[in-house]
Amino acid sequence: MIILGIESSCDDSGLALYDTHIKNLRSHVICSQNLVHKKYGGVVPELAARTHIQTIIPLLKKLLKNSNLELNKIDIIAYTKGPGLSGSLLVGASIACSIALSINKPVIGIHHLEGHLLSPFLSNNSLTFPFIALLVSGGHTQLIKVNSMGNYFLLGETLDDAAGETFDKIAKMLDLGYPGGPKISLISEFGDPNIYKFPRPMLYTNDFNFSFSGLKTSVLNVIKNIKLDLLKQEKANIARGFLDAIIDVLTSKCIAALKNTGFNKLVVVGGVGANKQLRKKLNILKKKYNYTVFYPKKEFCTDNGAMIAFAGAMRIENNSNLELNYEFNIKPQWKINQIKI
Ligand SMILES: Nc1ncnc2c1ncn2[C@@H]1O[C@H](COP(=O)(O)OP(=O)(O)OP(=O)(O)O)[C@@H](O)[C@H]1O
Ligand SMILES: [Mg+2]
Repeated sequence: MIILGIESSCDDSGLALYDTHIKNLRSHVICSQNLVHKKYGGVVPELAARTHIQTIIPLLKKLLKNSNLELNKIDIIAYTKGPGLSGSLLVGASIACSIALSINKPVIGIHHLEGHLLSPFLSNNSLTFPFIALLVSGGHTQLIKVNSMGNYFLLGETLDDAAGETFDKIAKMLDLGYPGGPKISLISEFGDPNIYKFPRPMLYTNDFNFSFSGLKTSVLNVIKNIKLDLLKQEKANIARGFLDAIIDVLTSKCIAALKNTGFNKLVVVGGVGANKQLRKKLNILKKKYNYTVFYPKKEFCTDNGAMIAFAGAMRIENNSNLELNYEFNIKPQWKINQIKI
């Protein structure tokens, strides 16, 4: 069975073909809108939707050409149904349903975060349920107890800004550009870890929630007090102080969740999951705390069609309902614990 995955929940158009016979991807393509949104320092929803309209069909043609496949050889179309930006979701859903109608094949609407959650399966044959997931993306920061396919229990989440959003906002304050995560990661390598000690919010609260707005304000206050134009070294020191603080909180809460549940498998997904300093720290700690940690390939941390095609395949394997009426409805607000198999 060949599943076409279409991701368009935010500012990346991603398409992929997953083949259930070979249990692998046939091909995947992505078009990031970073250049479109860069000058605004964040995603502009209307521009994101319009750009998806321009990119998805050419991407589909490229995908089919890369995998030497005719459109009608696709068996099922999986598309991101939510959560996300309404306009962007509508473009992906309408294209998915139009293609499906034209070739008389069913569609399946996928929860975007389920796509992220399952993404490590694409490159880790030894990963099995259950596990604890740290989902750290541009819009979410959650710790989830993943019992089995479709059985997700939200242990805790951010009370304000998401981790990726915090990286982006701090990068903007430091004039490093968008998206901020990779820029902060890079510049912090030259930073002195002993200059700025930023707060570790909610580190000692006895729960699995996060809060990053105070950390963000703390960084902003330091930048304001320096007043003069920031020198590159000073930016690196601030970035390093911030990175150490956020990684401390993320890793400590992961370990607390593992201890609390008795699970010994951790998966880290979403854009911030590509962060090399976060991976390094989690890899160092695994021996001491006796856990195994799994990540998606770096290219599948941020939004992509491969995780949507794969989630579609997993849902079909678990007998989820397929839709043949093509009356798509999107769910811009959709909690992870509201999904059912
Ligand atoms: N190496 C990195 N280090 C830290 N953050 C990173 C890195 N690479 C990407 N990011 C961050 O990841 C975020 C994008 O991730 P992703 O595409 O998963 O989020 P999203 O899809 O916008 O949000 P959501 O999945 O919650 O809807 C951005 O905020 C970006 O700065
Ligand atoms: Mg995402």
